[in-house]
Amino acid sequence: MAERILVTSALPYANGPVHIGHALEYIQTDIWVRYLKSAGRDVIYLCADDTHGTPIELNAAKQGLRPEEFVGRFFEQHQADLGGLDVQFDCFWSTNSDENRRYAELIYGRLKEAGDIARRNVEQTYCETDKRFLPDRFVKGTCPNCKSPDQYGDVCEKCGKTYAPTDLIDPRCVLCGTAPVRKSSEHLFFTLSKHADYLRELISSPEFLNPGVAAQLKQFFEKGLADWDISRDGPYFGFAIPGETDKFFYVWLDAPIGYIATTEKWAKTTGRAKNALDYWRADSGSRIVHFIGKDIVYFHALFWPAVLKEAGLKTPDRINVHGHLTLNGEKMSKSRGTLIAVRTYLDHLDPSYLRYFYAANLGSGPEDLDLSFTEFRQRVNAELVNNIGNLANRGLSILATQLDKKLAPAGEGPGKKLVEEALARTQEIADAFERLEFRAAIKAIAEISQVANQFVQVQEPWKKAKTDQETARQDLSDVADVVYLLAGLLQPVVPRLSKKLFEQLNAPELTYAQIAQAKYPLLDRTRPIGQPSPLIGRIEDAQLQKLIVPPEAPAPAAKEAKKAKEAASEPPAEIEYADFAKVQLKVGKILAAEKVPKADKLLKFSVDVGEPSGPRTIVSGIAEAYPEPEKLLGRNVVVVANLKPRPLRGIESRGMLLTSGPGGKDLVLLDPGPMPPGSDVK
Ligand code: 2FM
Ligand code: ZN
Repeated sequence: MAERILVTSALPYANGPVHIGHALEYIQTDIWVRYLKSAGRDVIYLCADDTHGTPIELNAAKQGLRPEEFVGRFFEQHQADLGGLDVQFDCFWSTNSDENRRYAELIYGRLKEAGDIARRNVEQTYCETDKRFLPDRFVKGTCPNCKSPDQYGDVCEKCGKTYAPTDLIDPRCVLCGTAPVRKSSEHLFFTLSKHADYLRELISSPEFLNPGVAAQLKQFFEKGLADWDISRDGPYFGFAIPGETDKFFYVWLDAPIGYIATTEKWAKTTGRAKNALDYWRADSGSRIVHFIGKDIVYFHALFWPAVLKEAGLKTPDRINVHGHLTLNGEKMSKSRGTLIAVRTYLDHLDPSYLRYFYAANLGSGPEDLDLSFTEFRQRVNAELVNNIGNLANRGLSILATQLDKKLAPAGEGPGKKLVEEALARTQEIADAFERLEFRAAIKAIAEISQVANQFVQVQEPWKKAKTDQETARQDLSDVADVVYLLAGLLQPVVPRLSKKLFEQLNAPELTYAQIAQAKYPLLDRTRPIGQPSPLIGRIEDAQLQKLIVPPEAPAPAAKEAKKAKEAASEPPAEIEYADFAKVQLKVGKILAAEKVPKADKLLKFSVDVGEPSGPRTIVSGIAEAYPEPEKLLGRNVVVVANLKPRPLRGIESRGMLLTSGPGGKDLVLLDPGPMPPGSDVK
């Protein structure tokens, strides 16, 4: 029996609309699944909404909704948006479902039976007003290290220091503003530490995980794998833990179980399997492949396989990790309006553009992908619109308008060679899709189209159509064969364009399974072609500009209230000029920039400040805003030059880089313009 393959994308939180960064993963997975289906493989693609946890519960409350109602609003919307991008799931379900509750309880029961659940007291931050434990992100205060105000309870976004929420100076509950306390309660832990040997071996297999990604997980083994806290105290939106009072499964415990729950839902709906265990039983012989972003590797490559193995279920065969999407070289940001919702994209542009561009840039590794508007427009217009679209339209239009839509039988001339040479490349293309090397596949496909365009250029069938109709028909019929082949090859990437081409050619769908056996001529030459029309229009710059919609500025009243609140905790509104004059600001030039190991927020710079002693080392907490620091090389920045040196993560930082923005991802380095290093900033 053929191998049954089950493919998933990470489950989107039912906490907001999906954006084009999410879309990178869904499109990557969808292209792969469509390729496999076209190649005749037995594969299903599953996904679901991830519905539990504190942020969702509190956002629902803010809107005066029950959490079930709140998450329900995203259920249709997520499917409509992703469907609009031609992402086709075999089933899309929800973690807040009976199926998921059942499997969460089953798995937990088995872990408990296997002696894998431990009880330990945990001291956490608690708000006595709201009567609830507060996750770190729900506590704010002044950083105990650098004294920056308004920092979250886990890490300072200014200096990168990590700490406990109660280490903050003047900590406040973000819900009610009162000072939280520490309170202890009993939590349940999955004893991950017992599975270190198994996991170390698992992740070292390149079949399972990209070796570079695996290397990054090594640090957790060096520190010793910590047991995993899988319970949360009420109130919490999630599944109650059987046998406990007011304790719930942590959202990350039941989220991946959602993959199994969705398999169950799919099995019940389609009847194509008895139940989820046809795939998830340890000896099922199926193949399970998860697609995820690099930020959630820890959950998928460590917790999840260990949980499944202990529960006697099938562990994943492969975790495919992709990088993040940047927009025009920068991290996407809600406040700058660059976190483009899929819905906004679809309001202005055809999904095929985005699918083509992502495919043209995706490899199998975890590198980030930049959606530069300039490159997006140029590449898609040059390859998809001009090269492929025009080949089809030019060729088929002459056949339709001057040659009665009739094709010539198989020939022996240069057209036959053209088709055969194109066919000779199809194995390489199929292999590239299989290995997730989409950019190699797209490159080869674009080359086939380019060669066919050159053929048309040389043969000049538009001239021959007036003087030697049968030769023109022969040339164009062979070009139509190439167009047919291109439609088949591109079908996983731009299915709606392929469909259009099949219709225009009046030919049935051409699959990878058929292409693997195909010989010249590809089209049934006795059938007339259909009605040609332009495949797709060009991307215009004006359309792209419409995608960036900065959120509206807060209303004046809200602004005033915010100001008043900030003023209450801020230093005096006025300072003497002499105070300002103490600060020495200088133009610096970035000579080197790199991430600080084990510090997510920190970047280490070497900055030329025009000093004879050489460049300075400056550590800055802006890593979230600049995920690719190497792109900053050569940039001018404003440096606070007379700040007392201070150690950050063992590195002495001599100075500070000035930025603007609220913090986190939303920061930009100030640009002093093209002045030489060492120039004063006054
Ligand atoms: O990071 C996220 O967006 C999570 N909602 C992904 C969950 S994937 C799986 F574990 F459910
Ligand atoms: Zn509170």
